[in-house]
Amino acid sequence: MRIILIGPQGAGKGTQAKRLAEKTGARIISTGDMVREEIKSDSELGRKVKEYNDRGELVPDDIIVEMAKPHLGAPEGWVLDGFPRNEAQARTLDETLEELDVEVDRVVALEAPDEALVKRLSGRRQSQTTGRIYHIEHDPPPQNSEEDPGPFVQRDDDTEEAIRRRLEIYHEQTEPLKDYYAERGLLVEVDATRSIPEVTEEVLDAVGERA
Ligand code: AP5
Repeated sequence: MRIILIGPQGAGKGTQAKRLAEKTGARIISTGDMVREEIKSDSELGRKVKEYNDRGELVPDDIIVEMAKPHLGAPEGWVLDGFPRNEAQARTLDETLEELDVEVDRVVALEAPDEALVKRLSGRRQSQTTGRIYHIEHDPPPQNSEEDPGPFVQRDDDTEEAIRRRLEIYHEQTEPLKDYYAERGLLVEVDATRSIPEVTEEVLDAVGERA
């Protein structure tokens, strides 16, 4: 299975990518996670990308493409979470997939209104041990769990200002990719305001794999 998840910030791309990977064995390629790993390593590149990340701006395309490219040939298939995010990245992805002789099965657009997203992001917590994403109301972090002891932290870019900027960039640059993929017959839109398991079911239906 090779699918691309498109969606505004907080629509559940990371949440669904993890669930889809668990159910299908596909690899998760999350450029956001790669950016955060680089920041954590405190490398020169990490310090550079942190400035973009914390402001809610896109990291320059060449850096993101270099991060994603080595994973695209994975034989187990993949779920792309957060890449491509503009037309230039989509075109580079097309070229790379052609070189690798692999095809995208589906592009899934997770749809939710901005107001719901701001609420979701302010309640998001991520485990520093497992990377799993939680929500303080909808999917609370476990207490005293050996499987996931946490700590459960808020992301540096989940400030109101950065969230607003990320949504603005999504509508300007990423949302037009829906037309880009619809023209190729690859797009399917999924209502992401439903519960987390319901969204997973609908995505699996759309890509032809049952939960
Ligand atoms: P990235 O990590 O990709 O962040 P994002 O796009 O802002 O997306 P989010 O992770 O905020 O949202 P999500 O849709 O994954 O939601 P989640 O599943 O966590 O990118 C971070 C930064 O890296 C970018 O700003 C940029 O600087 C850089 N970057 C990354 N890729 C790039 C690229 N291609 N080009 C340039 N720069 C790039 O869910 C959110 C919350 O909602 C959670 O708490 C979850 O539990 C809850 N939730 C999820 N689904 C549901 C549901 N159905 N019902 C109730 N609650 C739910």
